[in-house]
Amino acid sequence: MFDSSVFKKLEKNDFRVLTGIEIGMRNYQWVLSDTLSSFSRLPTSEVTYRINRLLKFGLIKRTTMPYTGYRIHFGGYDVLALGRLTRRGLSAIGENIGVGKESVVYEGIYDSEPVILKFHRAGYTSFKQVARQRDIGQEHHWVFVAKRAAERERDALAMLQNTVRVPGIIDYNRHVVVMTVANGSELSKTTVDDPDWFLDGIIEQIRKIYAVGFIHADLSEYNVFASPEGVEIIDWPGYVTTMHPDAEFLLTRDVRNVLTFFNRKYGVVREFDEVVDYVKCGNGQLDHEHTATDAPIT
Ligand SMILES: Nc1ncnc2c1ncn2[C@@H]1O[C@H](COP(=O)(O)OP(=O)(O)O)[C@@H](O)[C@H]1O
Ligand SMILES: [Mg+2]
Repeated sequence: MFDSSVFKKLEKNDFRVLTGIEIGMRNYQWVLSDTLSSFSRLPTSEVTYRINRLLKFGLIKRTTMPYTGYRIHFGGYDVLALGRLTRRGLSAIGENIGVGKESVVYEGIYDSEPVILKFHRAGYTSFKQVARQRDIGQEHHWVFVAKRAAERERDALAMLQNTVRVPGIIDYNRHVVVMTVANGSELSKTTVDDPDWFLDGIIEQIRKIYAVGFIHADLSEYNVFASPEGVEIIDWPGYVTTMHPDAEFLLTRDVRNVLTFFNRKYGVVREFDEVVDYVKCGNGQLDHEHTATDAPIT
């Protein structure tokens, strides 16, 4: 988990060496310290000193096989993103408010406003399994997978901003998305007085999302916030477009998750097929000016 005391201790040259390792990782699984001297434009002795600090802070990892090399650790990627975001408006990072299987979420302050910082972790856990199976370096690639997930979430929030109720996108860097704080609380953590009204609100959102060519694909009571103003849908990196080969399956799964939840918790009964038909009826205005891309099918 992110340790803000480490971030405060870092100096300019720590960032230069860390950035050098990040650049080197585009081409090498483990980055040689010799190459770091040129990537970071610092003398070898300074690089060595900085590497030892970064190791001590747990921001990078070292291997000695088959040669001595370094890789960024999640903490290192976190501070690089925070360094950049701080220069652009982030002034504080506060409580950790959520640890999902794919992310770690914090409160923060950006341009004097409260915000949410979502650090993507996708690829880390799942990669370990793949790495074990295939006998390859355990952390290879997770940086890129996490960054890709953050990019997808940023794109989804940006594209849907004017159409549906989603958090506003404020900034993005590497694997971190900065967004507005969703109103209310998650459906899973609250009991609402008027479940029919909230369920109608969610179905309406699914319809609008579908009408502009998207499907959330991970919709459930954990990713919907409810407040007196209505619902807000979070957690977007898994979205697909309605052109995706699994679109039908993912759309119906989203609808089913929501209907099942309202049925179990509140006894609300809705006809599944009718809801799916209703959601689809608004289709016909696919907007492919968007830069939407579907995740590769694996
Ligand atoms: N914009 C937001 N406003 C308020 N809380 C949020 C926001 N985004 C995420 N969270 C909190 O963090 C948790 C995890 O975020 P989420 O986007 O759902 O990622 P994950 O893929 O890990 O489930 C959420 O369940 C919620 O409690
Ligand atoms: Mg979630």
